[in-house]
Amino acid sequence: MWRVDKFVIKGPHRLKGTIDAGGSKNAALPIMFATLLAEGRHSVRNVPRLADMEFSQRMLLHFGCPVEQRFHKSFGADWMVDATKITSSEAPYDYVRKMRASFFCMGPLLARTGRARVSLPGGCAIGARPIDLHLMALEKLGADIVQTNGYAEASCKGRLRGGKVIFPKVSVGATENALMAAVLAQGTSVIENAAREPEIQSLAKALRGMGAMISGEGTSTIEVQGVEKLRPMDFAIPPDRIEVATYLIGAQMSGGDVTVRGACADDMEVVLQMLEQTGAKVERGADYVRVIGSEKIRPVDAITAPFPGFPTDVQAQWITLMTQADGDSLVTETIFENRFMHVPELVRMGADLTISGSSVRIKGKRGTLHGAPVMATDLRASASLVLAACVADGESEIKRIYHLDRGYETMEHKLEALGAEVDRHVDS
Ligand code: UD1
Repeated sequence: MWRVDKFVIKGPHRLKGTIDAGGSKNAALPIMFATLLAEGRHSVRNVPRLADMEFSQRMLLHFGCPVEQRFHKSFGADWMVDATKITSSEAPYDYVRKMRASFFCMGPLLARTGRARVSLPGGCAIGARPIDLHLMALEKLGADIVQTNGYAEASCKGRLRGGKVIFPKVSVGATENALMAAVLAQGTSVIENAAREPEIQSLAKALRGMGAMISGEGTSTIEVQGVEKLRPMDFAIPPDRIEVATYLIGAQMSGGDVTVRGACADDMEVVLQMLEQTGAKVERGADYVRVIGSEKIRPVDAITAPFPGFPTDVQAQWITLMTQADGDSLVTETIFENRFMHVPELVRMGADLTISGSSVRIKGKRGTLHGAPVMATDLRASASLVLAACVADGESEIKRIYHLDRGYETMEHKLEALGAEVDRHVDS
Protein backbone atom coordinates (compact mmCIF):
# COMPACT_ATOMS: atom_id res chain seq x y z
CA MET A 1 0.00 0.00 0.00
CA TRP A 2 1.28 3.47 -0.87
CA ARG A 3 1.28 5.82 2.11
CA VAL A 4 -0.78 8.97 1.98
CA ASP A 5 1.77 11.36 3.45
CA LYS A 6 1.76 15.03 2.57
CA PHE A 7 4.48 17.67 2.42
CA VAL A 8 4.09 21.00 4.18
CA ILE A 9 6.50 23.47 2.58
CA LYS A 10 7.18 27.03 3.73
CA GLY A 11 8.58 29.48 1.21
CA PRO A 12 10.13 31.38 -0.30
CA HIS A 13 13.67 30.07 -0.09
CA ARG A 14 16.66 30.20 -2.38
CA LEU A 15 17.90 26.64 -2.94
CA LYS A 16 21.61 26.61 -2.16
CA GLY A 17 24.06 23.82 -1.45
CA THR A 18 25.33 20.43 -2.60
CA ILE A 19 23.44 17.16 -2.86
CA ASP A 20 24.11 13.73 -4.39
CA ALA A 21 22.31 12.32 -7.42
CA GLY A 22 20.36 9.15 -6.76
CA GLY A 23 20.41 6.10 -9.04
CA SER A 24 18.13 6.33 -12.06
CA LYS A 25 14.72 4.74 -11.59
CA ASN A 26 14.09 4.46 -15.32
CA ALA A 27 17.45 2.75 -15.85
CA ALA A 28 17.04 0.45 -12.85
CA LEU A 29 13.56 -0.87 -13.70
CA PRO A 30 14.37 -2.60 -17.03
CA ILE A 31 17.73 -3.72 -15.67
CA MET A 32 15.99 -5.50 -12.77
CA PHE A 33 13.81 -7.34 -15.27
CA ALA A 34 16.91 -8.13 -17.36
CA THR A 35 18.20 -10.24 -14.45
CA LEU A 36 15.47 -12.72 -15.41
CA LEU A 37 17.46 -13.51 -18.56
CA ALA A 38 20.27 -15.45 -16.88
CA GLU A 39 20.47 -18.16 -14.26
CA GLY A 40 22.47 -17.32 -11.15
CA ARG A 41 23.01 -14.47 -8.70
CA HIS A 42 23.13 -10.95 -10.11
CA SER A 43 24.63 -7.94 -8.38
CA VAL A 44 23.03 -4.56 -9.12
CA ARG A 45 24.55 -1.60 -7.28
CA ASN A 46 23.38 1.98 -6.65
CA VAL A 47 19.70 1.06 -6.87
CA PRO A 48 17.51 3.98 -5.71
CA ARG A 49 15.30 3.35 -2.68
CA LEU A 50 11.94 4.12 -4.22
CA ALA A 51 8.43 2.71 -4.11
CA ASP A 52 8.71 1.56 -7.76
CA MET A 53 11.88 -0.38 -6.96
CA GLU A 54 10.26 -2.10 -3.95
CA PHE A 55 7.48 -2.97 -6.29
CA SER A 56 9.82 -4.55 -8.85
CA GLN A 57 11.40 -6.52 -5.99
CA ARG A 58 7.99 -7.99 -5.17
CA MET A 59 7.52 -8.86 -8.83
CA LEU A 60 10.89 -10.62 -9.03
CA LEU A 61 9.93 -12.63 -5.95
CA HIS A 62 6.63 -13.49 -7.62
CA PHE A 63 8.61 -14.90 -10.58
CA GLY A 64 10.64 -17.04 -8.12
CA CYS A 65 13.68 -14.76 -7.86
CA PRO A 66 14.37 -13.55 -4.30
CA VAL A 67 16.25 -10.28 -3.78
CA GLU A 68 18.66 -9.48 -0.96
CA GLN A 69 19.18 -5.77 -0.35
CA ARG A 70 22.07 -4.03 1.36
CA PHE A 71 21.10 -0.45 2.14
CA HIS A 72 23.73 2.27 1.95
CA LYS A 73 23.96 4.66 4.86
CA SER A 74 22.36 7.74 3.36
CA PHE A 75 20.76 6.67 0.08
CA GLY A 76 20.73 3.86 -2.45
CA ALA A 77 21.13 0.12 -2.05
CA ASP A 78 22.88 -2.87 -3.59
CA TRP A 79 20.69 -5.71 -4.73
CA MET A 80 21.56 -9.38 -5.15
CA VAL A 81 18.94 -10.98 -7.38
CA ASP A 82 18.85 -14.76 -7.35
CA ALA A 83 17.48 -15.72 -10.75
CA THR A 84 18.52 -19.38 -10.52
CA LYS A 85 14.95 -20.53 -11.10
CA ILE A 86 11.89 -18.96 -12.64
CA THR A 87 8.78 -20.46 -11.12
CA SER A 88 6.14 -18.21 -12.71
CA SER A 89 5.98 -16.47 -16.08
CA GLU A 90 2.86 -14.54 -15.26
CA ALA A 91 2.53 -10.88 -14.21
CA PRO A 92 -0.98 -10.44 -12.77
CA TYR A 93 -3.19 -7.39 -13.16
CA ASP A 94 -2.52 -6.19 -9.63
CA TYR A 95 1.16 -5.65 -10.46
CA VAL A 96 0.85 -4.13 -13.93
CA ARG A 97 -2.02 -1.88 -12.90
CA LYS A 98 0.12 -0.25 -10.20
CA MET A 99 3.27 0.18 -12.24
CA ARG A 100 3.16 0.29 -15.99
CA ALA A 101 6.87 -0.51 -16.26
CA SER A 102 5.92 -3.99 -15.00
CA PHE A 103 5.17 -4.73 -18.64
CA PHE A 104 8.92 -4.61 -19.30
CA CYS A 105 9.16 -8.14 -17.83
CA MET A 106 7.52 -9.61 -20.92
CA GLY A 107 10.58 -9.77 -23.18
CA PRO A 108 12.92 -11.35 -20.61
CA LEU A 109 10.35 -13.89 -19.35
CA LEU A 110 9.55 -14.96 -22.89
CA ALA A 111 13.20 -15.18 -23.92
CA ARG A 112 14.18 -17.26 -20.88
CA THR A 113 11.16 -19.54 -20.44
CA GLY A 114 9.44 -19.52 -23.85
CA ARG A 115 6.27 -18.11 -22.34
CA ALA A 116 5.02 -14.90 -20.71
CA ARG A 117 1.53 -13.98 -19.62
CA VAL A 118 1.31 -10.33 -18.67
CA SER A 119 -1.77 -8.31 -17.78
CA LEU A 120 -2.58 -5.43 -20.13
CA PRO A 121 -1.82 -2.18 -18.27
CA GLY A 122 -4.95 -0.17 -19.08
CA GLY A 123 -5.07 3.64 -18.82
CA CYS A 124 -3.22 5.78 -16.33
CA ALA A 125 -3.08 9.36 -15.17
CA ILE A 126 -1.09 10.58 -18.19
CA GLY A 127 -3.10 9.11 -21.00
CA ALA A 128 -3.89 5.82 -22.67
CA ARG A 129 -0.29 4.53 -22.91
CA PRO A 130 -0.82 1.50 -25.15
CA ILE A 131 1.52 -1.52 -25.44
CA ASP A 132 0.98 -2.34 -29.12
CA LEU A 133 4.62 -1.55 -29.99
CA HIS A 134 5.92 -3.95 -27.32
CA LEU A 135 3.75 -6.75 -28.70
CA MET A 136 4.60 -5.97 -32.34
CA ALA A 137 8.33 -6.16 -31.55
CA LEU A 138 8.02 -9.51 -29.78
CA GLU A 139 5.98 -10.88 -32.69
CA LYS A 140 8.72 -9.82 -35.14
CA LEU A 141 11.14 -11.82 -32.99
CA GLY A 142 9.07 -14.99 -33.47
CA ALA A 143 6.60 -14.87 -30.58
CA ASP A 144 2.99 -16.02 -30.96
CA ILE A 145 0.81 -13.53 -29.16
CA VAL A 146 -2.79 -13.82 -28.09
CA GLN A 147 -4.77 -11.32 -26.08
CA THR A 148 -7.52 -12.77 -23.89
CA ASN A 149 -9.22 -11.86 -20.63
CA GLY A 150 -7.19 -8.70 -20.17
CA TYR A 151 -3.87 -10.49 -20.61
CA ALA A 152 -1.28 -10.64 -23.39
CA GLU A 153 0.13 -14.14 -23.69
CA ALA A 154 3.32 -14.65 -25.67
CA SER A 155 4.92 -17.97 -26.43
CA CYS A 156 7.58 -19.44 -28.69
CA LYS A 157 8.74 -22.95 -29.53
CA GLY A 158 12.38 -23.20 -28.56
CA ARG A 159 14.28 -19.92 -28.81
CA LEU A 160 12.98 -16.66 -30.25
CA ARG A 161 14.43 -15.93 -33.69
CA GLY A 162 16.26 -12.83 -34.81
CA GLY A 163 14.22 -10.41 -36.90
CA LYS A 164 13.83 -6.85 -38.06
CA VAL A 165 11.78 -4.59 -35.81
CA ILE A 166 10.86 -1.21 -37.28
CA PHE A 167 9.12 1.00 -34.76
CA PRO A 168 6.62 3.43 -36.34
CA LYS A 169 7.01 5.61 -33.23
CA VAL A 170 9.87 5.96 -30.75
CA SER A 171 9.14 4.10 -27.52
CA VAL A 172 11.61 3.70 -24.68
CA GLY A 173 9.84 0.73 -23.08
CA ALA A 174 9.18 -1.12 -26.35
CA THR A 175 12.84 -0.68 -27.39
CA GLU A 176 13.87 -2.12 -24.00
CA ASN A 177 11.51 -5.07 -24.29
CA ALA A 178 12.70 -5.80 -27.84
CA LEU A 179 16.35 -5.57 -26.80
CA MET A 180 15.89 -7.90 -23.83
CA ALA A 181 14.08 -10.43 -26.03
CA ALA A 182 16.59 -10.23 -28.90
CA VAL A 183 19.69 -10.97 -26.81
CA LEU A 184 18.69 -14.64 -26.41
CA ALA A 185 17.13 -15.05 -29.88
CA GLN A 186 18.63 -17.28 -32.55
CA GLY A 187 20.39 -15.10 -35.13
CA THR A 188 20.65 -11.39 -35.74
CA SER A 189 18.04 -8.77 -34.89
CA VAL A 190 17.89 -5.19 -36.04
CA ILE A 191 15.82 -2.63 -34.17
CA GLU A 192 15.05 0.44 -36.30
CA ASN A 193 13.77 3.79 -35.02
CA ALA A 194 14.92 2.65 -31.59
CA ALA A 195 14.78 5.03 -28.64
CA ARG A 196 18.16 6.66 -27.92
CA GLU A 197 17.65 7.55 -24.27
CA PRO A 198 20.60 7.10 -21.86
CA GLU A 199 18.50 4.39 -20.15
CA ILE A 200 18.67 2.29 -23.35
CA GLN A 201 22.42 2.71 -23.31
CA SER A 202 22.68 1.56 -19.67
CA LEU A 203 20.48 -1.45 -20.39
CA ALA A 204 22.68 -2.38 -23.36
CA LYS A 205 25.78 -1.98 -21.19
CA ALA A 206 24.32 -4.19 -18.44
CA LEU A 207 23.31 -6.82 -21.03
CA ARG A 208 26.73 -6.71 -22.64
CA GLY A 209 28.25 -7.40 -19.22
CA MET A 210 26.09 -10.55 -19.19
CA GLY A 211 27.62 -11.68 -22.49
CA ALA A 212 25.07 -10.19 -24.91
CA MET A 213 26.27 -8.99 -28.32
CA ILE A 214 24.78 -5.57 -28.99
CA SER A 215 25.92 -2.61 -31.08
CA GLY A 216 24.44 0.74 -32.05
CA GLU A 217 22.68 1.60 -28.77
CA GLY A 218 22.38 5.37 -28.44
CA THR A 219 21.64 5.58 -32.19
CA SER A 220 18.30 4.78 -33.82
CA THR A 221 19.51 1.42 -35.17
CA ILE A 222 20.46 -1.28 -32.69
CA GLU A 223 21.88 -4.59 -33.87
CA VAL A 224 21.83 -7.69 -31.69
CA GLN A 225 23.57 -10.97 -32.35
CA GLY A 226 21.62 -13.46 -30.24
CA VAL A 227 23.50 -15.81 -27.90
CA GLU A 228 22.35 -19.10 -26.39
CA LYS A 229 23.02 -18.27 -22.77
CA LEU A 230 23.89 -15.26 -20.64
CA ARG A 231 25.72 -14.99 -17.31
CA PRO A 232 24.63 -12.96 -14.24
CA MET A 233 25.36 -9.23 -14.27
CA ASP A 234 27.40 -7.05 -11.96
CA PHE A 235 26.26 -3.53 -12.74
CA ALA A 236 26.00 -0.09 -11.12
CA ILE A 237 22.93 2.02 -11.94
CA PRO A 238 23.84 5.47 -13.39
CA PRO A 239 22.58 8.77 -11.89
CA ASP A 240 18.99 9.87 -12.40
CA ARG A 241 19.08 12.64 -15.01
CA ILE A 242 15.46 13.63 -14.33
CA GLU A 243 16.00 13.95 -10.59
CA VAL A 244 19.15 16.02 -11.23
CA ALA A 245 17.32 18.27 -13.72
CA THR A 246 14.56 18.86 -11.16
CA TYR A 247 16.97 20.21 -8.51
CA LEU A 248 18.94 22.26 -11.05
CA ILE A 249 15.73 23.87 -12.30
CA GLY A 250 14.96 24.61 -8.64
CA ALA A 251 18.29 26.45 -8.42
CA GLN A 252 17.47 28.74 -11.33
CA MET A 253 13.88 29.23 -10.26
CA SER A 254 14.83 30.40 -6.78
CA GLY A 255 17.90 32.44 -7.79
CA GLY A 256 19.96 29.90 -5.83
CA ASP A 257 23.12 27.88 -6.39
CA VAL A 258 22.91 24.08 -6.47
CA THR A 259 25.61 21.49 -7.12
CA VAL A 260 24.59 17.88 -7.76
CA ARG A 261 27.43 15.44 -7.21
CA GLY A 262 27.51 12.34 -9.37
CA ALA A 263 25.43 14.03 -12.11
CA CYS A 264 26.24 13.36 -15.76
CA ALA A 265 26.00 16.53 -17.89
CA ASP A 266 26.06 14.61 -21.19
CA ASP A 267 22.78 12.88 -20.33
CA MET A 268 20.97 16.20 -19.88
CA GLU A 269 22.71 18.64 -22.20
CA VAL A 270 19.48 19.98 -23.72
CA VAL A 271 18.12 20.94 -20.29
CA LEU A 272 21.44 22.55 -19.29
CA GLN A 273 21.59 24.58 -22.51
CA MET A 274 18.03 25.74 -22.03
CA LEU A 275 18.82 26.74 -18.45
CA GLU A 276 21.70 28.81 -19.85
CA GLN A 277 19.29 30.47 -22.27
CA THR A 278 17.16 31.49 -19.32
CA GLY A 279 20.21 33.24 -17.84
CA ALA A 280 21.58 30.59 -15.46
CA LYS A 281 25.28 29.86 -15.21
CA VAL A 282 26.00 26.17 -15.65
CA GLU A 283 29.22 24.46 -14.56
CA ARG A 284 29.79 20.99 -16.01
CA GLY A 285 32.28 19.00 -13.93
CA ALA A 286 33.59 15.49 -14.51
CA ASP A 287 31.44 14.26 -11.62
CA TYR A 288 29.04 17.11 -10.85
CA VAL A 289 26.83 19.76 -12.39
CA ARG A 290 26.31 23.16 -10.79
CA VAL A 291 23.68 25.76 -11.63
CA ILE A 292 23.98 29.31 -10.37
CA GLY A 293 20.65 31.06 -10.68
CA SER A 294 20.29 34.47 -12.33
CA GLU A 295 18.39 37.40 -10.85
CA LYS A 296 16.20 37.68 -13.96
CA ILE A 297 14.88 34.60 -15.76
CA ARG A 298 14.47 34.93 -19.53
CA PRO A 299 11.40 33.11 -20.96
CA VAL A 300 12.38 30.07 -23.07
CA ASP A 301 9.88 27.88 -24.97
CA ALA A 302 10.10 24.10 -24.67
CA ILE A 303 8.81 21.29 -26.90
CA THR A 304 9.12 17.75 -25.57
CA ALA A 305 10.75 15.18 -27.85
CA PRO A 306 12.48 11.80 -27.60
CA PHE A 307 16.15 11.94 -26.52
CA PRO A 308 18.27 13.95 -27.25
CA GLY A 309 15.30 16.36 -27.27
CA PHE A 310 13.71 18.03 -24.27
CA PRO A 311 12.40 15.25 -21.94
CA THR A 312 8.69 14.96 -21.28
CA ASP A 313 9.65 14.05 -17.70
CA VAL A 314 10.98 17.62 -17.23
CA GLN A 315 8.02 19.40 -18.87
CA ALA A 316 6.11 20.04 -15.62
CA GLN A 317 9.19 21.40 -13.84
CA TRP A 318 9.94 23.67 -16.82
CA ILE A 319 6.43 25.16 -16.72
CA THR A 320 6.99 25.96 -13.04
CA LEU A 321 10.31 27.63 -13.87
CA MET A 322 8.63 29.69 -16.59
CA THR A 323 6.06 31.03 -14.09
CA GLN A 324 9.03 32.96 -12.62
CA ALA A 325 10.36 34.23 -15.97
CA ASP A 326 10.30 37.80 -17.09
CA GLY A 327 7.67 37.43 -19.85
CA ASP A 328 5.63 34.89 -21.82
CA SER A 329 6.60 31.43 -22.94
CA LEU A 330 5.02 28.35 -24.51
CA VAL A 331 5.57 24.74 -23.45
CA THR A 332 4.34 22.01 -25.82
CA GLU A 333 3.91 18.33 -24.93
CA THR A 334 4.29 15.94 -27.88
CA ILE A 335 4.90 12.58 -26.16
CA PHE A 336 1.92 12.02 -23.88
CA GLU A 337 -1.65 13.23 -24.00
CA ASN A 338 -3.17 14.50 -20.78
CA ARG A 339 0.12 15.46 -19.14
CA PHE A 340 -0.89 18.90 -17.86
CA MET A 341 -2.50 17.91 -14.58
CA HIS A 342 -0.12 20.15 -12.67
CA VAL A 343 -1.46 23.18 -14.56
CA PRO A 344 -4.71 23.73 -12.58
CA GLU A 345 -2.81 23.15 -9.33
CA LEU A 346 -0.15 25.73 -10.28
CA VAL A 347 -2.94 28.15 -11.17
CA ARG A 348 -4.26 27.69 -7.61
CA MET A 349 -0.83 28.86 -6.45
CA GLY A 350 -1.15 32.06 -8.47
CA ALA A 351 0.43 31.05 -11.81
CA ASP A 352 -1.01 32.56 -15.01
CA LEU A 353 -1.31 29.55 -17.32
CA THR A 354 -3.61 28.76 -20.24
CA ILE A 355 -3.87 25.34 -21.85
CA SER A 356 -4.49 25.30 -25.58
CA GLY A 357 -4.44 21.80 -27.09
CA SER A 358 -1.06 20.27 -26.37
CA SER A 359 0.53 23.57 -25.32
CA VAL A 360 0.53 25.74 -22.24
CA ARG A 361 0.95 29.52 -22.51
CA ILE A 362 2.73 30.86 -19.43
CA LYS A 363 2.67 34.51 -18.41
CA GLY A 364 5.74 34.67 -16.24
CA LYS A 365 6.51 37.10 -13.45
CA ARG A 366 8.81 36.59 -10.52
CA GLY A 367 7.23 36.42 -7.09
CA THR A 368 3.68 35.67 -8.27
CA LEU A 369 3.34 32.28 -6.60
CA HIS A 370 1.74 31.98 -3.17
CA GLY A 371 1.35 28.99 -0.87
CA ALA A 372 -1.81 26.89 -1.25
CA PRO A 373 -3.08 23.37 -0.58
CA VAL A 374 -2.54 21.37 -3.78
CA MET A 375 -2.87 17.78 -4.94
CA ALA A 376 -0.07 15.77 -6.54
CA THR A 377 -1.37 13.81 -9.52
CA ASP A 378 1.58 12.02 -11.07
CA LEU A 379 5.28 11.78 -10.43
CA ARG A 380 6.64 14.73 -12.40
CA ALA A 381 3.56 16.89 -11.79
CA SER A 382 4.23 16.44 -8.08
CA ALA A 383 7.85 17.51 -8.48
CA SER A 384 6.72 20.70 -10.21
CA LEU A 385 4.39 21.51 -7.31
CA VAL A 386 7.20 20.98 -4.80
CA LEU A 387 9.44 23.38 -6.74
CA ALA A 388 6.63 25.91 -6.91
CA ALA A 389 6.05 25.61 -3.14
CA CYS A 390 9.76 26.23 -2.44
CA VAL A 391 9.61 29.65 -4.16
CA ALA A 392 6.00 30.53 -3.27
CA ASP A 393 5.26 33.02 -0.54
CA GLY A 394 3.72 31.27 2.47
CA GLU A 395 2.78 27.69 3.31
CA SER A 396 1.80 25.01 0.82
CA GLU A 397 0.40 21.61 1.52
CA ILE A 398 1.10 19.01 -1.13
CA LYS A 399 -1.16 16.02 -0.74
CA ARG A 400 -0.70 12.51 -2.16
CA ILE A 401 3.08 12.62 -2.25
CA TYR A 402 3.20 8.85 -2.70
CA HIS A 403 3.66 9.84 -6.35
CA LEU A 404 6.93 11.53 -5.37
CA ASP A 405 8.04 8.53 -3.34
CA ARG A 406 7.85 6.52 -6.58
CA GLY A 407 10.60 8.56 -8.19
CA TYR A 408 12.47 10.92 -5.82
CA GLU A 409 14.61 9.33 -3.12
CA THR A 410 14.60 11.23 0.21
CA MET A 411 13.32 14.36 -1.49
CA GLU A 412 12.59 16.21 1.75
CA HIS A 413 16.16 15.60 3.02
CA LYS A 414 17.70 16.79 -0.22
CA LEU A 415 15.54 19.92 -0.24
CA GLU A 416 16.35 20.61 3.43
CA ALA A 417 20.05 20.26 2.61
CA LEU A 418 19.45 23.01 0.03
CA GLY A 419 17.80 25.26 2.62
CA ALA A 420 14.12 24.61 1.94
CA GLU A 421 11.63 24.10 4.78
CA VAL A 422 9.87 20.81 4.11
CA ASP A 423 7.98 18.63 6.58
CA ARG A 424 6.51 15.26 5.84
CA HIS A 425 3.18 14.66 7.61
CA VAL A 426 1.45 11.34 7.75
CA ASP A 427 -2.03 12.14 6.49
CA SER A 428 -4.82 9.74 7.30
C1 UD1 B 1 9.42 5.79 -20.39
C2 UD1 B 1 9.73 6.34 -19.01
C3 UD1 B 1 8.90 7.58 -18.74
C4 UD1 B 1 9.07 8.60 -19.86
C5 UD1 B 1 8.82 7.97 -21.22
C6 UD1 B 1 9.14 8.89 -22.38
C7 UD1 B 1 10.35 4.36 -17.75
C8 UD1 B 1 10.02 3.41 -16.66
N1 UD1 B 1 9.44 5.32 -18.02
O1 UD1 B 1 8.05 5.38 -20.37
O2 UD1 B 1 9.31 8.13 -17.49
O3 UD1 B 1 8.15 9.65 -19.67
O4 UD1 B 1 9.65 6.79 -21.38
O5 UD1 B 1 10.45 9.34 -22.29
O6 UD1 B 1 11.40 4.28 -18.35
N2 UD1 B 1 3.42 4.13 -27.10
C9 UD1 B 1 2.57 3.49 -27.97
N3 UD1 B 1 2.58 2.11 -28.00
C10 UD1 B 1 3.42 1.38 -27.19
C11 UD1 B 1 4.28 2.05 -26.31
C12 UD1 B 1 4.27 3.43 -26.29
O7 UD1 B 1 1.81 4.12 -28.70
O8 UD1 B 1 3.38 0.14 -27.27
C13 UD1 B 1 3.43 5.61 -27.05
C14 UD1 B 1 3.09 6.18 -25.68
O9 UD1 B 1 1.70 6.25 -25.47
C15 UD1 B 1 3.74 7.55 -25.76
C16 UD1 B 1 4.99 7.29 -26.59
O10 UD1 B 1 4.75 6.06 -27.29
O11 UD1 B 1 2.91 8.43 -26.45
C17 UD1 B 1 6.28 7.16 -25.81
O12 UD1 B 1 6.10 6.27 -24.74
P1 UD1 B 1 7.28 5.34 -24.23
O13 UD1 B 1 8.58 5.88 -24.70
O14 UD1 B 1 6.95 3.92 -24.54
O15 UD1 B 1 7.18 5.54 -22.66
P2 UD1 B 1 7.49 4.46 -21.54
O16 UD1 B 1 8.55 3.53 -21.99
O17 UD1 B 1 6.22 3.87 -21.04
